Amino acid sequence: MIVLTGATGLVGRLLTAELAGRARIVTRTPPAEALPAEVFEGDPSRPETLTDALRGASTLFLHPRAVGDAAYELVALARDLGVRRVVALAAANVDDDLAAQPSRFRGDRNKEADDAAATSGLEWVSVRPSSFALNALTAWAGQIRAGDDVRYVHAGFEESPLHERDLVEVLVRALVDDDLLGRRIDLTGPESLSHAEMVARIGTALGRPLRFHEVPAEAAARGMIASGLPEPFVTAMMARYAAHLAKPQFPPNAEVEKILGRPALTFAEWAAEHAADFRPAG
Ligand SMILES: NC(=O)c1ccc[n+]([C@@H]2O[C@H](COP(=O)([O-])OP(=O)(O)OC[C@H]3O[C@@H](n4cnc5c(N)ncnc54)[C@H](OP(=O)(O)O)[C@@H]3O)[C@@H](O)[C@H]2O)c1
Repeated sequence: MIVLTGATGLVGRLLTAELAGRARIVTRTPPAEALPAEVFEGDPSRPETLTDALRGASTLFLHPRAVGDAAYELVALARDLGVRRVVALAAANVDDDLAAQPSRFRGDRNKEADDAAATSGLEWVSVRPSSFALNALTAWAGQIRAGDDVRYVHAGFEESPLHERDLVEVLVRALVDDDLLGRRIDLTGPESLSHAEMVARIGTALGRPLRFHEVPAEAAARGMIASGLPEPFVTAMMARYAAHLAKPQFPPNAEVEKILGRPALTFAEWAAEHAADFRPAG
């Protein structure tokens, strides 16, 4: 049995569906709807609350947002209870200076999840994705639902956005197969795209040309903070954009294709699948 932390979130829900019948999920707040897994109430940042879920399990999926500062403690408990494998979700930037990792300012402990897995003494894999294509929803869906004009920072900043299905399929391989064991796997999407190019592809998926307007970083930051994002997170994100304008931070690699034996999904495919999320309701 595979114990999933972070299972009610973006990645975890997809993982739970893929592992139907083979997973136990742990959540601080069990959802009302039925899930294709045994549900245990527990808080991964307080590992002792996962004892029942871990007993008799073979594998632990370590989610760095859900587990917070308790990654090492949770892995130690899992090992004591007989768990044989730990698979961490981490991030492509975990080896960067901690102050340059924006997600840390939201509480994500990707570095610790990566390290706790690799030093666990158990079978381990750490999957380190670059930016999710899903980030386009947070960044632009509100504006695109309201009209054809998209205001955002740094039109030319490039990422290799990763389709969530590719991430989840690789995580499943790491959880159930043996061929990825002992690896830190940096995972990217198949192509490097600028902010403006991503918005253009969303426009193509919607059948409606969108206009990208570059706004100065200070103005964009003020808007993000006003919309509720923590200021230190926004400051670190703007610094990341500024530092990697000339050369992409994580150019595309071939890991998804090597592992899954098929090409990685493109951002255009992602946009076509998510077109409804960018259309006005009703
Ligand atoms: N977005 C990207 O581009 C990107 C790229 C690389 C890596 N990552 C990393 O991927 C992770 C995010 O994955 P995700 O999108 O699946 O996460 P998510 O949906 O936001 O959250 C996953 C789970 O974490 C728990 N959780 C959420 N917010 C929490 C909080 N403030 N305190 C404690 N627990 C919380 C919840 O579990 P309960 O059910 O227990 O409440 C939730 O279901 C982060 O570590 C992020 O740094 C993201």
